[in-house]
Amino acid sequence: MKITNYSSIADKYDKNQYRSEEIRFDQDLREYIDNHQQSEYHVLDLSCGTGLYLVKQMKAFVDYPIRWHGIDASEAMLTKAKEKIDQAIFVKGYAENMPYQPGTFDFISNNYAFHHYGKKEQALKEIERVLRIGGIYKYHNIAIHDMTKWWVYHYFPSAHYEDLKRFWNKEVLFHELTARGFQANLKIEYKMEELKVADYLHFAENRDISVLTLINDSDYHEGLERMRFDVNKNPEKTIPTDFAEMFCIAQKI
Ligand SMILES: C[S@@+](CC[C@H](N)C(=O)[O-])C[C@H]1O[C@@H](n2cnc3c(N)ncnc32)[C@H](O)[C@@H]1O
Repeated sequence: MKITNYSSIADKYDKNQYRSEEIRFDQDLREYIDNHQQSEYHVLDLSCGTGLYLVKQMKAFVDYPIRWHGIDASEAMLTKAKEKIDQAIFVKGYAENMPYQPGTFDFISNNYAFHHYGKKEQALKEIERVLRIGGIYKYHNIAIHDMTKWWVYHYFPSAHYEDLKRFWNKEVLFHELTARGFQANLKIEYKMEELKVADYLHFAENRDISVLTLINDSDYHEGLERMRFDVNKNPEKTIPTDFAEMFCIAQKI
């Protein structure tokens, strides 16, 4: 499995405005708090990146006694997070080997990151270890097996092969969680729509979608040229695209 170098992406990561716009109020965290009356909660954003989830939730949960934590393997991404947030505890570290005591967290949020882990079973073992009993692991990621017509794969077909090597499908994720004694509840949100190619050209040019850094340069430039050609020929051109997101709430029993 190839590894994305986030030090080359950190500076441009937040330029994609969809990344912050799509983050929703964490209703699952709210439910956890409503069902567990405690004097303090510890919430970890696992692979917090530039801190987009934390910024949003820390504002929304400002009246709650929550200690916020962020861990990420990339110093460059953490630097961006620290520029935005001063009330969270950040550490550099790997999902597969987290520097926390057993049972530290009530809630672990994990967005768009699990496919990056080289040792996924080991990461789940660590998640299970650092969660308290009754605590929640919330997995959220794109569901690549349900989005074969994604515009990225349309223009950069080798990206699909790279993603198939690194993403777990829903059956594997569900099985691996339940085999570790989690009670898991998984759902996929799917949509298909017509996408105006011109509106997405700058995302491809920015090359900050991790899989575009994993395909070779000639595949990347070939795809980019095809996109530019389509836009030059017809600035209004649309293609059907699909998009799917997987959410899994897993409770440590
Ligand atoms: C696509 S970014 C997602 C960042 C953030 N969660 C978000 O939603 O914007 C993936 C993040 O995973 C981090 N990462 C990759 N491998 C990791 C590992 N083994 N342990 C911890 N973090 C890792 C990267 O450094 C990067 O910040």
